[in-house]
Amino acid sequence: MLVWEDDVRTPPNPAQRPAPEAELGLRTVTPSPLQTATAAVASTPSSASADASAASSVFAKSTRRVNVADKRIINGQTDVNQLVPFKYKWAWEKYLATCANHWMPQEVNMSRDIALWKDPNGLSEDERRIIKRNLGFFVTADSLAANNIVLGTYRHITAPECRQFLLRQAFEEAIHTHAYQYIVESLGLDESEIFNAYNEVQSIRDKDEFLIPFIDAIMNPGFKTGSLQNDQTLLKSLIVFACLMEGLFFYVGFTQILAMGRQNKMTGAAEQYQYILRDESMHCNFGIDLINQIKLENPQLWTTEFKAEIRALFEKAVDLEYRYAEDTMPRGVLGLNASMFKGYLRYIANRRATQIGLDALFPNEENPFPWMSEMIDLKKERNFFETRVIEYQSGGALSWD
Ligand SMILES: [Fe+2]
Ligand SMILES: [Fe+2]
Repeated sequence: MLVWEDDVRTPPNPAQRPAPEAELGLRTVTPSPLQTATAAVASTPSSASADASAASSVFAKSTRRVNVADKRIINGQTDVNQLVPFKYKWAWEKYLATCANHWMPQEVNMSRDIALWKDPNGLSEDERRIIKRNLGFFVTADSLAANNIVLGTYRHITAPECRQFLLRQAFEEAIHTHAYQYIVESLGLDESEIFNAYNEVQSIRDKDEFLIPFIDAIMNPGFKTGSLQNDQTLLKSLIVFACLMEGLFFYVGFTQILAMGRQNKMTGAAEQYQYILRDESMHCNFGIDLINQIKLENPQLWTTEFKAEIRALFEKAVDLEYRYAEDTMPRGVLGLNASMFKGYLRYIANRRATQIGLDALFPNEENPFPWMSEMIDLKKERNFFETRVIEYQSGGALSWD
């Protein structure tokens, strides 16, 4: 009987096999900073036919049966079209968990938020500023995240079970962008003000400008893994994305809107943020597992100089997010103030650093917002703000008894 490890036909010489990303012939336009990072991929008829011939070569050369021991997260030579046999079960399990948490923005009732926003005495100016700044950051941040996955990370990852998670994650980023747009539309906010905030509000722009070089580096069509330097570039980009973007830059905004919901204000928006926080927490955890597995398979990447560079990036990110907190809260509001976030951001940064094997950057920081952990651990059946009218039941969670 044939097993997965058996060859069906004579195996090709592995040395002659192109890297999987080259096999798939993915082509992207070289992005310029900020404005074009979100641009669509251009495809000309000639590049499309080149892609087609590259794709056909996948089938011609991938007749060798996949041996699970040969699978690698990066620079793997096994066929990326074969999901099984699984090697990275944690990736598949996280994929299933994200599917079981499926939700859509329109399921959340926004009528109370609309009434409160339209009531001239409903919210203070400082509360309105928080909402507008928040949406100003997030309406483009999740598009950046989606583009980073689809046009960057995806093609450099050679484990199909990890690619499967990334596909789901990319769709969730689309749902998040949809959710933020849905809040903007529901409240009747000035769309051009909100969607241009990442160009026009300095504290938001500074965060994005910090991120863009790491996204650009791996989106560059000429970029390929396989050398020490480029593998470190990819690993750095993954760390910035998982630990500092999804794992840190989102947390002032999430805490502010969820604090509002806890005071029975903007409960529809808070509900949306609660589901987004749960998704992002899973993205961050997946990213950390991915980073640690790459480290395990490629220990030569984790040099003293590299670790020092990552620590410096963590410090810079904490500083930028703290400046964003100050800009969004020039005065105390909702029982929060900017200086409380200094401790929180240091606490989160410590956690992310230790999760990827670095020492804590700011020893002995306590979590000033323990209630945020409850929000992250939201279970499907529990709804803090009770605005959701439908409890989504995904196909994978149905019982057939
Ligand atoms: Fe997101
Ligand atoms: Fe995400």
